[in-house]
Amino acid sequence: MTDVQVTRREMLKLGLLGAAVLSLPLERNARASLKTDRIPESRLPKPFQVPFRRPPVLQPVRRDATTDYYRITMRQAQVQILPGFPKTTIYGYNGIAPGPTIASTVGRPSVVRQINRLPRISSVGEYRYRTTTSMHLHGSASLPQYDGYAEDVTPPGYYKDYRYPNNRAATLWYHDHAIHHTAPNAYMGLAGMYIERDALELSLGLPQGRYDVPLVIRDAMFATDGSLIYDDDSQSGAFGDVILVNGRPWPRMKVERRKYRFRLLNASVSRGYRLRLSTGDPMIVIGTDGGLMPQPQEVGSFRFGMAERYEIVIDFSRYRIGQNVDLVNPELKNNRDFDSTNRIMRFEVAEDARTRANNDVPSELRPNNPVMQLQESQSIDTNRFRFERGGGQWTINDRTWDKDRLDARCELEDVEVWELENDSGGWFHPIHIHLIDFKVLDRNGRPPFAYERGPKDTVYVGENETVRVLARFGPQTGKYMMHCHNLVHEDHDMMTQFEVGSGGPDPVNAAPARPVSEAQPL
Ligand code: C2O
Ligand code: CU
Ligand code: CU
Repeated sequence: MTDVQVTRREMLKLGLLGAAVLSLPLERNARASLKTDRIPESRLPKPFQVPFRRPPVLQPVRRDATTDYYRITMRQAQVQILPGFPKTTIYGYNGIAPGPTIASTVGRPSVVRQINRLPRISSVGEYRYRTTTSMHLHGSASLPQYDGYAEDVTPPGYYKDYRYPNNRAATLWYHDHAIHHTAPNAYMGLAGMYIERDALELSLGLPQGRYDVPLVIRDAMFATDGSLIYDDDSQSGAFGDVILVNGRPWPRMKVERRKYRFRLLNASVSRGYRLRLSTGDPMIVIGTDGGLMPQPQEVGSFRFGMAERYEIVIDFSRYRIGQNVDLVNPELKNNRDFDSTNRIMRFEVAEDARTRANNDVPSELRPNNPVMQLQESQSIDTNRFRFERGGGQWTINDRTWDKDRLDARCELEDVEVWELENDSGGWFHPIHIHLIDFKVLDRNGRPPFAYERGPKDTVYVGENETVRVLARFGPQTGKYMMHCHNLVHEDHDMMTQFEVGSGGPDPVNAAPARPVSEAQPL
């Protein structure tokens, strides 16, 4: 069996799932043109027609004295996304995209069983690959074996129980991270929101309950048969001409005349946004990737890179009933723009406030956040990383991903400056460091933008920008990834890893996936 093709076919026939199969490379599909059957923009639904909805909140299958237990099945499903077109085939956590929202409480860890029931082989755009998955909870200081390490994959027919500490209130998200096909897996729909709340945040009088609203924003492109078109333009970026909010094209949401808290997540593969309100009125940014900021910040617009989360409060009491306020995206450099990608969603001011409870934004939110109290003088080292395109690959300090190489290391609790440099004018890189939250120190020597003055785990490194961030490395030891969150760049292969301490758990072998047929009770 020296012929790879034969070997692969044999293994599929036998349903074998051995280690050899896991390392199947990403293949190019023979399919000819990808673009011929794209829906012309003139036939796409008009923005602001489809009613807004929130993703459902996932109920635990069980709770015990300390922990909440959840079960999610990743599967292919047919869902109605575009009105007037056939259903769209997606990959979804529990068959929906975005997946259900997980709502947890700080201090109560959770276990999430992820069952991979996806088709064995995927054909997404020009790629054909074995549909392995790796679930990453982005924003969580999880142990290495539960962090969605790219090489720690779960094959179809396997499951893995992920444990999460839930140790600080923030808007997190879970998404696929499988080596070399994260972008197509996520593009097909494998992403969802994960919210951690604590008592402090609930005591501040911020909008809560029905006034605390997740907005998972992404773009997508569709064929006339309803299917998703994945075109990464020679591995530079995958853009769509339809904006989806919580899985719906340019929805419209009825709001009351009061304040709302929106948790914005950019779940796009490659698209960044510059968001503002059509009225030109300010938005109050209250939270960043790592939770509430020390103080709220009023901004007219903000850059919103892939994987970033911003929590904003919009006060609709200043508008009259019947008025529309649109969330818009007039322009951001180095994205592929289409007729309606400058619009996101519409708020229809529909009625007076039903209640004015929790209708405040106090001037102090979380002033004692330890990340924001870090000082540069505490740093014992500076690490420099240069993000570039070289030889058709996306590189960090001229190198691509290698699971056997470490590009930085430090001791547990070390404080360090990381300097992230993008010398190109042709693209931007939202850079994400796993495990930690950081404080943005400066960008090209200037203070960070007002909306970045909170704990972050992903920072927008724009064209010709050098951004310096400061972090304390912990609380876990082990190997963790750092990468560009343009998932096309990440897959090809702008990703590296660092190690905190030594002797930490092995990310691949400490808690391997198991066959569903041998599943333990949850
Ligand atoms: Cu959101 Cu390493 O990923
Ligand atoms: Cu992450
Ligand atoms: Cu990038």
